[in-house]
Amino acid sequence: MDKKVKYFDYPVQFKVHEKEYMEIIRETLSRGAYILCEDLKRFEENLAKFVGTKYAIGVGNCTDALLLSLYAAGIGPGDEVITVSHTFVATVEVIKFLGAKPVFVDITDDHNMHVELVEPLINSKTKAIVPVHLNGHICKDMDKLMAIAKKHKLIIIEDAAQSLGATYKGKGAGTFGLSGCFSFYPAKLLGAFGDAGAIVTDDAEFAEKLRMIRNHGRGKGTDIGLWGLNCRMDNVHAAVLDLKLKKLPDWIKRRREIANMYNSRLSSLKELRLPPPPEENGDYYDVFQNYELEAERRDALVKHLNENGIEAMLSWGGKGVHQFNALGLNNFKLPRTEEFFSKAIMLPMYPELKDEQIRYIVQAIKDFYAKR
Ligand SMILES: Cc1ncc(COP(=O)(O)O)c(C=O)c1O
Repeated sequence: MDKKVKYFDYPVQFKVHEKEYMEIIRETLSRGAYILCEDLKRFEENLAKFVGTKYAIGVGNCTDALLLSLYAAGIGPGDEVITVSHTFVATVEVIKFLGAKPVFVDITDDHNMHVELVEPLINSKTKAIVPVHLNGHICKDMDKLMAIAKKHKLIIIEDAAQSLGATYKGKGAGTFGLSGCFSFYPAKLLGAFGDAGAIVTDDAEFAEKLRMIRNHGRGKGTDIGLWGLNCRMDNVHAAVLDLKLKKLPDWIKRRREIANMYNSRLSSLKELRLPPPPEENGDYYDVFQNYELEAERRDALVKHLNENGIEAMLSWGGKGVHQFNALGLNNFKLPRTEEFFSKAIMLPMYPELKDEQIRYIVQAIKDFYAKR
C-alpha cells in the first residue's frame, strides 16, 4: 500500500466515474444549457424529493443559501440571531452582512448546539436561530429547539451544509425550520466541480421569494418584483449534481462503514473521545461528512500522523468563529467550544478510502499512544 493517505482525494473520486461525468458535461454544454435551464429544474425536484421538502432552490453556494434565507425571512439591522461558534465562518458572516448581531451558544457532546442553553439568550431583539448540523449529524434535540422557537415566535434556518441525507426520527436535515441550506462544495457529501448550494423549504411563498432574489428579483419574464442578487446555481453543476445524487446513498453507506471501522478499532484508547457510532435503528441517522474526534496531545498526534504520510485536519484551522480576533466576537465565553477546539482532529473520510488505508491510520494512532 502507498503509505500516503490524503485528507481528501478529488482526482481519485473523479476517476471512478469519469466517463459518466464527462458525458453529462459534454451533453449539457453542447445544448448550450448554461443558466436556469431544465437540468437545474430537474435537480431541484430530485433534491426536494431526496430531502423530503416540497421545494428546492439551487443557488451559487451555501453561503448564498444562508444569506438569502435570512434576508428573505426579514432579518436585518437590530436583530439578534442565535447560532454556534463551532461552524464555518459563513454561518456567521451572513448574519453580520445583514446588519444583525450573531449571538453564540455553546456546544454539547455531539459537537453541535447545546439546545438547553438557548432559552436564556433570547430577548426582545432575538429573531432567529441557526442550528448547524455539523459533520453529518443532526443537532441533538431538534424537537426541543423547535418548541423553543415556537414559544418565542422565532424563525429557524438550518445550516445543513454538512448533513445532506442525515435524519432525526426519520425527518431529514434541513426540513425542520423555515428553510434548510446545503453546500455542494467539492469536498461535501454531494460535491460539485466548483461551488454550488441549495435551499429547501415547504413554504410556497418563501420558495418563490427565494427564486426571485437569486435571480435579481425577477419573477416570470423580465419584470423585477423585489431587490435581488445574482445567486444562481450554474446549470452544468446542476446536471452533474443530479447524476451524483443517485450515487449519494451508496456513498453515505460507505462513509458509515468507515465510521464504524474507526469507532470499533479506536474505542479502546482512553486518550480519545470518539463521535457517536452510526446507529442502525436509533433516532439519528448520521451521514459522516467528517469523522471528527477529540484527542489528548492532539498537536503531537497530528505531527505523528503527518510524519507517517497521513493528512489529518483541524476544522477551520483549529478555531471557533469567536476565536478569530479580527471578527470582534471574542467577548463570548464558550468553555465547551474552546475545550473542543484544543483537542479536535478530523481523520480522512471519503467513500473511496480503502479498508487497508483505514487500518493503517488506526495503527498509526495506536502506535502514537503506545509509545508515550
Ligand atoms: C457548516 C457550514 N456552513 C456553511 C458553509 C458554506 O458553504 P459554501 O462553501 O457552499 O458557501 C460550509 C462550507 O464549508 C459549512 O461547512
